[in-house]
Amino acid sequence: MSALPTTKGLRTSLAILTMPDLDNGFRGNRSNFIDLIAKGKELGAFVFVVTTDDLRKATKRIYGHVYQPESELWVRQLLPMPQVIYSRIPTRTDEQLPEVQTLIADFARKRGVSLFNPYFFNKWALFEWLNTDKATRHFIPATRRLASPKELVAFIQSHPMTYLKPVRGKAGKGIMRLETYVPGQKYWCKLSIQDNKRSIVTNHLNIAKLWTRIKQETGEEDYIIQQGIPLAESMGRPFDLRVLVQKNQAGRWLLTGIGARVAGVKSITTHVPRGGHIDSPERALLSSFGERRGLLIFRKVSHAALVIAKRIEKESGFKLGEMSLDLGVDQNGRIWFFEANSRPMKFDEPDIRELSLTRIIEYSHYLSRPRPAQTGKKSGGS
Ligand SMILES: Nc1ncnc2c1ncn2[C@@H]1O[C@H](COP(=O)(O)OP(=O)(O)O)[C@@H](O)[C@H]1O
Ligand SMILES: [Mg+2]
Repeated sequence: MSALPTTKGLRTSLAILTMPDLDNGFRGNRSNFIDLIAKGKELGAFVFVVTTDDLRKATKRIYGHVYQPESELWVRQLLPMPQVIYSRIPTRTDEQLPEVQTLIADFARKRGVSLFNPYFFNKWALFEWLNTDKATRHFIPATRRLASPKELVAFIQSHPMTYLKPVRGKAGKGIMRLETYVPGQKYWCKLSIQDNKRSIVTNHLNIAKLWTRIKQETGEEDYIIQQGIPLAESMGRPFDLRVLVQKNQAGRWLLTGIGARVAGVKSITTHVPRGGHIDSPERALLSSFGERRGLLIFRKVSHAALVIAKRIEKESGFKLGEMSLDLGVDQNGRIWFFEANSRPMKFDEPDIRELSLTRIIEYSHYLSRPRPAQTGKKSGGS
């Protein structure tokens, strides 16, 4: 076993929590972890990787994976318990394993160790949390659980365009769009199903057959049906905004950055792996709304993101240090919430990326400072 790394001079020890892997020690995005470890070194935090298996077995000490930049090797060694744990468990499937659920539930409540961002969000819960508060309700498209053909018909009668999304979805997987025309009692529906980089389109005149086709796609997964928002366009292509909000060294929510994502020509979502591309939010908003209105909307988006993040944290009852929000702006300049992610993906904009790493370390410093006992529900920061 190698010697303990020196933690002298480092104010905080932070463990990145992920799943074990038989061949490689642990799973997850290693280059992301290495970036955070390097930022920790720069800002006075000792950062290492820990697996759910090792965390479960830990007593006063814990096996962690320490990165050695000189040799570019990871070394598994016995370390003191970290003060702070940042969950980067890669998938919902991992998180739903009974032993992982028990572990997270234990650590989310534990004294002496602060676990932040313990769980993935679920689109239906987000809707309920935000729809029950005056300050956030007006950002939320009308949303229902997709339960029966009867409810589908009732919903599409009042919304000419709707999105069907898996409650536990990610990266555009399983998303469908319905465009409906209802002359008299007849329906003409156009169903677009997001495939790799394009969408598969079918037309339907019969609700029973439409339902069968939808069920073929949803299987047993829980889905929501949501009012479709006609997105503002930049150069003739719909775009939406990906906003990163994080807490700082005082435990307060701040805006880290906003990116614009422009939809691929044949896609019903704006994800880059699905043919979308990155734009600057200022350019997209200004090209869509002109300079004065564009800037005003930009400021409103920043404000909306912070109001929404605080509400989500309060309702979730857990300690959150960051989240990304997918917000749309419609053709009239109104802001809409699509979803929030508690495991934000890496932002490709270099300035946002850099600041995002800094804030994780700063928030970890905040959590590592001794304070009176607190619960997640009251740890809203601001
Ligand atoms: N109600 C909606 N109206 C218009 N576009 C939507 C709507 N819901 C989702 N989208 C589009 O689909 C994308 C993916 O939806 P999102 O809810 O973020 O699911 P995922 O978890 O797959 O990322 C959004 O970024 C947006 O471009
Ligand atoms: Mg999304």
